[in-house]
Amino acid sequence: MPNQINSLYEYLEAYKKSTENPEEFWGNIAESFYWRKKWDKVLEWNFDEPNIQWFINGKLNITENIFERNLADFGNQTAIIWESNSPDEPSQHISYNELFKKVTQFANVLKNQGAKKGDRIAIYMPMVPEAVVAMLACARIGAIHSVVFGGFSAQSLSDRIIDAEANILITADGAYRGAKTISLKNIADEALEKCPSIQKCIVLERTKENITMKKERDIWWHEALATAQIECKAEEMDSEDMLFILYTSGSTGKPKGVVHTIAGYMIYTEYTFKNVFQYHKNDIYFCTADVGWITGHSYIAYAPLLASGTLLMYEGVPNYPHAGRFWEIIDKHKVTHFYTAPTAIRALMATGLEHVKPYQLDTLKVLGTVGEPINAEAWHWYHAHIGKGKCPIVDTWWQTETGGMMISPLAGITPTKPTYATLPLPGVQLMIVDTEGKELKGNGVEGNLCIKFPFPSMLRTTYGDHERCKQTYFSTYKGLYFTGDGVKRDEDGYYRILGRVDDVINVSGHRLGTAEVENAINEHPLVNESAVVGYPHDIKGQGIYAFVVLEKDGQTHEKDAMKASIISTVNKIIGAIAKPDKILLCSGLPKTRSGKIMRRILRKIAEGDISNLGDITTLLNPEIVEEIKKEAGF
Ligand code: WTA
Repeated sequence: MPNQINSLYEYLEAYKKSTENPEEFWGNIAESFYWRKKWDKVLEWNFDEPNIQWFINGKLNITENIFERNLADFGNQTAIIWESNSPDEPSQHISYNELFKKVTQFANVLKNQGAKKGDRIAIYMPMVPEAVVAMLACARIGAIHSVVFGGFSAQSLSDRIIDAEANILITADGAYRGAKTISLKNIADEALEKCPSIQKCIVLERTKENITMKKERDIWWHEALATAQIECKAEEMDSEDMLFILYTSGSTGKPKGVVHTIAGYMIYTEYTFKNVFQYHKNDIYFCTADVGWITGHSYIAYAPLLASGTLLMYEGVPNYPHAGRFWEIIDKHKVTHFYTAPTAIRALMATGLEHVKPYQLDTLKVLGTVGEPINAEAWHWYHAHIGKGKCPIVDTWWQTETGGMMISPLAGITPTKPTYATLPLPGVQLMIVDTEGKELKGNGVEGNLCIKFPFPSMLRTTYGDHERCKQTYFSTYKGLYFTGDGVKRDEDGYYRILGRVDDVINVSGHRLGTAEVENAINEHPLVNESAVVGYPHDIKGQGIYAFVVLEKDGQTHEKDAMKASIISTVNKIIGAIAKPDKILLCSGLPKTRSGKIMRRILRKIAEGDISNLGDITTLLNPEIVEEIKKEAGF
């Protein structure tokens, strides 16, 4: 395979080249892709604005690089193996030739519904192959997709549709998730009441539940398909045209739409997929992420297909109908590469080895993790019991904003160390700084993780608000992209991610802004104010701890009923992923004289460590700390 790194020596060489001459390095890699017209210049950049452009004036279509570029060699190979939520429903095998037809035909459906280049199309789907088909069909015609995770509420969905001014929504009647079904269409209907920009809603039939179809607006996927032609020429796109928007949480305000553009994202995700996983022909790669998150975009929908891989896509959840479901799927489909989140590993570890023992797991070659720091115990369990001690683990650190993996071992090549993401990938130039922005050089340092040079798949802007992109990522430290993560570089120069240093919490690998959860809680009519912090959680990595002050009327209600009602408000505003694990009702929050909530104190209490709360005498209301401590059981 072109651009494949085969040894540690080759990695070091590639890394060196990528930093000494990034344009030549990425230019060479880009040569193996199919361009309608080659680029004039590889890179132009400036982190102050920020302005980042790769492969300037290149013309291409990403779907031609998945299909036309490779069909002669890989047309009959399986592109997607799909495994249903229910073990009783047959799995599907879709070849590249078949997937190509599905994508082009659905692209024609979109066109028939009025979609054109540059339109934003929202996708709110279950984990079925049609979700990938929908994404690729958008890319085929040059529309920009905005996928919204199926667990989000009507309000979260409408916020995202409104922000992107999407004109089409693609959804399904419902989604199976374990023993539950989610009525996607009903939720979408509620969302669409607030979304005048939506002209058409295309509905895939999956659960066959009772839904209503709104005349003129709603159309069934299968009916639209019946009248659509199969062939659809790819739209010619510019390297820097938007490929997609994906909303993600930050420390302040509403989630922002991270924008990725076509060429850089395509090249970088394919390159990292092949090299990190050491993926080879005939390997079977299973990624458990949902397409609603960046991992599902980069390492389900795009990179494995760009690399002509065979991708296993699973509709359901890890523990349904039993806690051995992942392992059963691995045996059934002879999976060689398995990529999941630490939270899933911890949850399955907690169910006991009897759920692993019945399975062989002998086809596995490489294991991966993503989304949050993996603790040593989970790492060793994964290595010993799933990898049987013979599979390297690639602990891949990256973000929605980086589009692709940034720090990770190359499987079987980079010596690993439990809990360490190890070394930066070629093209990734890191810098660790202290809180003042001073570079911490050398090994054996700990600080804030920044990136000092552009790489092809980095975010270009936040949709509709470039200033916000600049403020969030490029203003904390001048001339640097700030990741929001704390990091340690040990004596060997290996990187270990320590977690977020901003007001973002990472719950089961899902990013949530504390402000976002607070805003949702504050929507409750009986809530006066709230403060949300993260705390260590055995399975989820971090749990959500909410300190809530009720209005006078609320204080007369029974506490458990109030807590349940607050949780249901959060479910409604954001979705179940943001529901607080613990709620503490109190009569006030500790504040400074200027009225700022002292989160540091709340964090300590939530973490169960009150030995060092610091000086509280300068607080506006020091007595409240005692009350909260007592309520928390200290
Ligand atoms: C965290 C997910 C430690 C980190 C791809 C980052 C990790 C945030 C790792 C991004 C890892 C991701 N080790 N922490 N291997 N991978 N993170 O945008 O805090 O959903 O900033 O992207 O997850 O989350 P996001």
